[in-house]
Amino acid sequence: MRSSLNGNWKFSYATNAAGRIESFYRTDYDCHGWEDIQVPGHIQLQGWGGPQYVNTMYPWDGLDGVRPPAIPEEYNPVGSYVKHFRLPETMTGQPVYISFQGVESAFYVWLNGEFVGYAEDSFTPSEFDLTPFLKEGENKLAVEVYQRSTGSWLEDQDFWRFSGIFREVYLYTVPQHHVRDLRVLAELDDSYTAGRLTVDLELLKQGISASASVLMELKDASGEVVLAEHGHFDEQGKHSFAVDAGIVKTWSAERPYLYSICLSVMDADGVLVEAIVQKAGFRRFEMIDKVMCLNGKRIVFKGVNRHEFNSRRGRSITKEDMLWDIKTIKQNNMNAVRTSHYPNQTLWYELCDEYGIYVIDEMNLESHGSWQKMGAVEPSWNIPGDHPEWQGSVMDRAVSMLERDKNHPSILIWSCGNESYAGEVILNVSNYFRETDPGRLVHYEGVFHNRKFDATSDMESRMYAKPADIIEYLESNPGKPYISCEYMHAMGNSIGGMHKYTELEDKYKLYQGGFIWDYIDQSLVKKDRYGREYLAYGGDFDDRPTDYSFCGNGIVFADRTVTPKMQEVKFLYQNIKLEPSRFGVKIKNGNLFESTEKLALSVRLLRNGHEVYSWLGEARVEAGDVAVVPLELPDSSVHEAGEYAIHAALVLKEAELWAEAGHEVAFGEAVFEVSSAANASEVSPIPAGSVRVVEGDVNIGVSGNGFSILFSKQVGSLVSVRYGNREMIAVPPAPLFWRAATDNDKGTQLGYEAGVWYAASLARRCTNVKLTVDDEGISGITASGAYATVAFDYAFSVSDKLQFRVAYTVYADGSIRVRSGYKGVPGLPNLPIVALSFKLSADYDHTEWYAMGPEENYIDRAFGARLGVFSRKVEQLPSPYLVPQESGNRTGVRRLAITDSRGLGISLTAAPSAPVECNVSPYTAFELENAAHAWELPAVHYTVVTVAGRQMGVGGDDSWGAPVHDEYVIPSDCEMTFEFVLSAVDRSAE
Ligand code: GAL
Repeated sequence: MRSSLNGNWKFSYATNAAGRIESFYRTDYDCHGWEDIQVPGHIQLQGWGGPQYVNTMYPWDGLDGVRPPAIPEEYNPVGSYVKHFRLPETMTGQPVYISFQGVESAFYVWLNGEFVGYAEDSFTPSEFDLTPFLKEGENKLAVEVYQRSTGSWLEDQDFWRFSGIFREVYLYTVPQHHVRDLRVLAELDDSYTAGRLTVDLELLKQGISASASVLMELKDASGEVVLAEHGHFDEQGKHSFAVDAGIVKTWSAERPYLYSICLSVMDADGVLVEAIVQKAGFRRFEMIDKVMCLNGKRIVFKGVNRHEFNSRRGRSITKEDMLWDIKTIKQNNMNAVRTSHYPNQTLWYELCDEYGIYVIDEMNLESHGSWQKMGAVEPSWNIPGDHPEWQGSVMDRAVSMLERDKNHPSILIWSCGNESYAGEVILNVSNYFRETDPGRLVHYEGVFHNRKFDATSDMESRMYAKPADIIEYLESNPGKPYISCEYMHAMGNSIGGMHKYTELEDKYKLYQGGFIWDYIDQSLVKKDRYGREYLAYGGDFDDRPTDYSFCGNGIVFADRTVTPKMQEVKFLYQNIKLEPSRFGVKIKNGNLFESTEKLALSVRLLRNGHEVYSWLGEARVEAGDVAVVPLELPDSSVHEAGEYAIHAALVLKEAELWAEAGHEVAFGEAVFEVSSAANASEVSPIPAGSVRVVEGDVNIGVSGNGFSILFSKQVGSLVSVRYGNREMIAVPPAPLFWRAATDNDKGTQLGYEAGVWYAASLARRCTNVKLTVDDEGISGITASGAYATVAFDYAFSVSDKLQFRVAYTVYADGSIRVRSGYKGVPGLPNLPIVALSFKLSADYDHTEWYAMGPEENYIDRAFGARLGVFSRKVEQLPSPYLVPQESGNRTGVRRLAITDSRGLGISLTAAPSAPVECNVSPYTAFELENAAHAWELPAVHYTVVTVAGRQMGVGGDDSWGAPVHDEYVIPSDCEMTFEFVLSAVDRSAE
């Protein structure tokens, strides 16, 4: 029986122990006048002190010179909590315990003025026996929480530094015969079909228990009893059931089948005294020939690291948060979570059991600042290292985690913590896991830095190893399988090149996947000076020292909206691969256990982005099999000339726990062209009619029916496009070689390495303007012809050999063909982008694309994008990364219309065989570059259109120096031409 103590508690705050109210716990101390604080919750998010974000350094670095085990005394906030409670009647006369599920980082407990106990380890429960201290009527519970303790040396995770009672608190009582420990092993035999169930029980009180007995019933998911056994406890209060369960349904992430073990504890008279329901999943996780296998099959972790985080509540997350997370994770084809870097709330593991997620359960240990300083390995005062005095508290953390979590089928691997270097203490922990729980494997990455302790980890685990390093390991005849416990650093606009990792899955048996860093941005809601809420990062709370925006590396934004990076993750993590063609869809079912039975195959045929045919049918492919489902596209649907895309998708026939019916589980695309006699040649016909050309002293005007175009020799560009009476050019097109640096760009010091391209984009000179009419020159001041071309040559101080030419050809229908040519020179840094950028008025605030989408994509992050038509308001195009940066790009752009509220505007088209990349945004690259927060961006007056021949990839191996992969960069000496056609759009009648 439980009684929650969540809710308002009385609270007093002091910045250090000397300032605290020492006697507050006493019964004669009245704290009714204190302020209220919410439990669970962090102190720093409820108005006392403030949050601080730091990564590897200890948060007091530079402020206090303490070394372990000493702790700062000057600044060590103390929260004194008081809760008055009356024991529920149903609990009176019974033993009463209190459970604190999570308190950061250390605390003392008193009841009615008497000292009850002390605890450390913020992320596992601490429980105390309150029975001797309880009284009738009102009880006074006093808890004194210290932000910093010896435990803080072991809790140097890369996260916000908070303190307080941040997980729930409750009282509970137990019956006379109470099962204090329950261990369930639901194993499989060598056929992986028959189950063996071991249930070890231990009663709280020994001696008196010999007369008690227990009935164990195993129920399947429908509630049917499939097995029942009865047993008696021995003198030690123990009993073990060990039974063959016959053929069972197995548990896996693909098919998380759970049984219930129902235990009825009876006293000597056969009266039921305690009933327990424990979920169990039959599964077997083991190493076979150096390969990690689940139920006999090689497993690949399509994983993500997850911090418990909520932008308003910090790490005090709610059930709703967890439900949202698990659904989002499942919907996006992830199958594994590492609980970076501490044990999570219990409910999370229950959800992983139920929804089907493999878990690396990581103990609460990180001593990063004790051995790595500004990136360099310097373990001179590393803890716990080989120091026996740290063994006890470190081991306690391991035991607390294992004992709390051991019955969850979802947990496959125990992790000995994160980034604490290596030594005897952690080795002992890993041996403890292994010996206590042979049914799981042990993970620890830190041995990478000290191979003497290699035996600590059963698998080779690295963080941020590049694809080439991983391949080198895999090809060196290694002794252990490989996982990346962290990879794809998803900070800001990132996740480029992820396919280079997932491609290893099929090439190397010992490559067993990785865990993206990480799931959710750790940014906190704060108000700017005008009272508007925004997502704040380190430093925004005047917290120093800080590591600023490094807290934001999520594939989910902190407000729990999905980032565009997810598009790539979902695609590359799909178990089932689809390869459509005109004649059929090849389905490779990479599931280990599940057929495609629950999925329907949907095929859509698009012509130039618009659906011309669709089909929904069956496609049953067994796990591990490949099959081709023939496709008969009606002739009528493919006879017209155009660009066709076949979208094949497997969608849920019925709703699952984690998604609605119709949810897309797998996707594949094929694109092909159908040419007719009329468009067999690539060259589009020249529009009929003629243009009138006026070459003035300063300007060149080209006009025709309903349009007039002006080029300026003085400005050196196209300066006016008037369709009807509308002026389209607010700021003339100019060459652009810079993109607003992404977080990854900053990691590679793009500004330092390639800043010349920033300068070149701001300062150029037009060296030559040339006008031709048709293919002739112009004679006289006015002329006319079928078309007229004005070409501009530009020079840049970066090199006098670099050539950039933009030629505009105006046709009689008012369309303008824009051809840009870049001819580079060797010896300069790679270019971020080669583009033309111009501005429209912000009235043109709506876009419709026929391009790769729907979400933002880049040349190294376009696998998850698909060719189609989609629309967005301009304001929705930039992605709200924590620090404004390049975002919102689309590759493969064939058509883009930018219109105002009336449907009038401009369109841009490119040949499907030579599409362009486009970015439409309210902000220029330079405005974005200059802003550290979205609220620093200027008021919106323009729609900025950037059309690129190519933009370099975004990268993603890490955010602290990993370059974008070679195939996705733009060498300075390349030659590049790109072209598109601008024309008027009038949808006002639609
Ligand atoms: C890893 C660390 C993570 C996080 C990441 C960078 O070294 O384990 O906690 O700090 O780097 O974002």
